[in-house]
Formats: sequence, structure tokens, C-alpha cells
Amino acid sequence: MTELEKARKEINLIDSEIARLFAKRMDAVRGVAEYKKTHGLPVCDPLREEALLASVEGAFDDPVYAKYYRELLKKEIGLSKAFQHSLSGDLYVNTGNGGYEVVIARGGLDGLDKYLPNGIKTLVISDEGVPSEYVKKAAQYCDNAEIALFPQGEKNKTPETLKCLLQTLSKGGYDRASRVIAVGGGVVGDMAGLAASLYMRGIEFVNIPTTLLAQVDSCVGGKTGCDLDGVKNAFGTFYAPSKVIIDTETLQTLPRRHIANGLAEALKAALIGDPELFEAFENGDPFGISYETVIRRALKVKISVVEADEKESGLRRALNLGHTIGHGIESACGGGWLHGECVAVGMLPVCSPGLRARLIPIYAKLGLPESAACRADEVLRYCLNDKKAKDGGIITVRCDNPGEYRFVRVGEEKLRALIKQVVTE
Ligand SMILES: NC(=O)c1ccc[n+]([C@@H]2O[C@H](COP(=O)([O-])OP(=O)(O)OC[C@H]3O[C@@H](n4cnc5c(N)ncnc54)[C@H](O)[C@@H]3O)[C@@H](O)[C@H]2O)c1
Repeated sequence: MTELEKARKEINLIDSEIARLFAKRMDAVRGVAEYKKTHGLPVCDPLREEALLASVEGAFDDPVYAKYYRELLKKEIGLSKAFQHSLSGDLYVNTGNGGYEVVIARGGLDGLDKYLPNGIKTLVISDEGVPSEYVKKAAQYCDNAEIALFPQGEKNKTPETLKCLLQTLSKGGYDRASRVIAVGGGVVGDMAGLAASLYMRGIEFVNIPTTLLAQVDSCVGGKTGCDLDGVKNAFGTFYAPSKVIIDTETLQTLPRRHIANGLAEALKAALIGDPELFEAFENGDPFGISYETVIRRALKVKISVVEADEKESGLRRALNLGHTIGHGIESACGGGWLHGECVAVGMLPVCSPGLRARLIPIYAKLGLPESAACRADEVLRYCLNDKKAKDGGIITVRCDNPGEYRFVRVGEEKLRALIKQVVTE
């Protein structure tokens, strides 16, 4: 046997031993998951994770081995958490870089120590419309956190706001070990995530969504965005948060119109992947379904799609149901319309006539519009400016029945005809 063969044989033996130990470890992890579930404890335990990673420093004589092992351990902790979440039915998003937890906890803002490690220099980003108590709760929990607020609303999702946020990070001496926490709706999440992804080429980002729309949809998936000259999300990044914490208590202060706005995005999720949720909207009072149920079910649909296609090269386009025309309407109508309302209108022409007839009564219950008072040409112009448009055409998502969708490429004229079905000018 040559030296090389001997070394390979040794590695094979070690690998079999590691596999045997790994199976044993998974059994132990399963035991921990079951204990935590029975005792109502959260899967994540930041202090234990830190201690585990720190213990590596002393375990190796060779610092190079220690560095590799630390990386391995980090990935292992991520996988172990995913396994525990899969056993407990919790939400977890597996990404190429390990993944992140989505915690749904009523009153979670009052117990952030359960979910977030402390002692990290933190900038809490929010807007002036988010009740200040939520922002203060997040800031008070983190030692020496600062708060950055920008004026509320889509009209402030601009490069100017982004520049201010980056300047705050820079002037405040934030470094690569610092953290950004977003507390707010989809606008805050998109802007804070974008700033975190750009600053020093990326610092930790935690998302605490406080609108229903952000809780059922925008808080997962890792898309950040900023509008440019009226074009929705004209630039942005794919940047996953390290954790999402959803406190449904925050919805108590959200106006009913914004609740309906979030339910519109949940309805979209139901259309593409949860026929049972669709029927709950159809047969009962959508406002009567518990927030926790709507959020969990809608996020499950989104997570399954996002995990299969992180960067929107194929399947993830399904999440754009209603968004092509919806975004066109949002841009053409200016500031008066909410995102979910535009998506609701945008969904109608891309659903089959039968499904459309089922959607209209649901919209009536939710107080969602069926059409928009804007010019078809204007909407079309924005649609063709969309990132997804190519060679004068665009791929639309069509839905025939709840849970059944397909992709159809349409040219400019067909798109105009679809838009004309739902605009009144
Ligand atoms: N990244 C994604 O995947 C994704 C997905 C969908 C939508 N979006 C983006 O999300 C944005 C829309 O998000 P939105 O509907 O949450 O709007 P928003 O962020 O503008 O929030 C709506 C309003 O509610 C206020 N608010 C927030 N939380 C509140 C609370 N708990 N109580 C009272 N008021 C509160 C805000 O200050 C704001 O005035 C759009 O810019 C859209 O492009 C992003």
C-alpha cells in the first residue's frame, strides 16, 4: 500500500466514524427539540451558540484548524436549527448561507433576550409612522443602541433616504461586527435591509416587521429595494436577515385598511400554494382568521418557493402573481394606493374568469378595489420598465384555480389588453 493509499484509508475510516457520531448527535438534537417543544422553549439559544463557538478557540493547537472548525460548527448549528425547526413545525428559511429563523411570538418585542444576543453595537431603523413604543422597546433591549428614523411612506423609499441611513452608520462608527434592526413595515424592511447589505459590504440585519403585509410576505425572502424616479424597487439586493421576529401584538395599532392590505398579499400566497387558506377567505370573514394562522400559512408558501429559488431565476416568479400590473398601477397612481391594493387589482386579469368571479366577493369583504383610475398607457410604460421585462415582453403568472399556476410570456399588446381590463381611464 502506498503512502497515499494509506492516508486515504485513514480518512475513510475517520469519515465513517464521523458519520456514526453524526447520527448519534442527530438523535441527541431530536431529544433537545422534543424537550423544548414540550416545555415551550424557543429553538434558538443565542448564548449557548456563542459559548459553543467560543469553546473552539481553546480546543485546537493549530489556529488554522480552529478557524476551519469554527466555520464548520457555524454551518452545523444552522443545519441543526433547521432540523429542530422541521421537527417542531416552526418556520425556518434554508438559504445557501445556512438559513434563518422566523419567530412568530405574540409580545415578542417584550422578550427580545430570548431571540437576540446582546452586546452588539446596533442601529435600530424605523420610520416616523411606526408607533415609537415598538422602536424604543427594540432599542432599549440592545446595549447602547441608536435609533434612525426617516419620514414614513413609499415616497420616502428613495436614494436620498438610503444615503442618510448609510451616513448615520458611517458617522456613528459602526463596523463589520455591528447590526441593523429594522422595526416597521415593508418600506422600513426593504430600506434597512438594503443599507445593511451595502454598508461595509454587509453587516448583520435583523427584521422585526410591524405591518401585516411585512409579516405575511416581505420579511422573508431576502429581497431589499429602493425606488428610483418613481420606478418601484428599481434597485436593491438579495440579502437575507439573520433572524425575523414577528410580534403580532404590533398589529393592534395598525389601521384596518393596512390589515386588508396585508390580507391581500396573504390571499396571493393562498392562490399560489394554499387552497385551504383561500377557502377560509372565501367561506368566512377574512378579518376573523387569527393573525398567527394567516401569517404562518402565507409564510410557509413563500418559504417553500424561496428555498427552491433564492435568486428568482424561475419558480420564485410565482410570488409575482398580480405584481407586474400591480407595480405598474402603484407607480402610475402615485402615492394614494397601498401595495396590497395594487396587487389585488393586478391579480384579476391574470386569473381565469372562474377564479376572478370567486375573488370579487372576497375583495368586497376586504374592501379591496377591483380597478384603478389610471391610464393604461401609463401603467404599461411602468410595466415595461419592470426588471422582469425583456425584449418588449414580460413573463406573467397565470392562475386558473387556487394552487394551480403557470407562467405565460406576453408581448406589449397583450399586456395592454390585460391592463385595460382593470383600469378605468
Ligand atoms: N422585499 C419584499 O419581498 C417585499 C414584498 C412585498 C412588499 N414589499 C414592499 O413593502 C412596501 C409596503 O409595505 P407596507 O405595506 O408594510 O407599507 P409601509 O412600510 O409603508 O407601512 C405602512 C404604514 O404603516 C405604518 N406602520 C408600520 N407599522 C405600524 C403599526 N404596527 N401600527 C401603526 N402603523 C404602523 C408605517 O409607518 C407606514 O406609515 C412596499 O414598498 C413594497 O414594495 C417588499
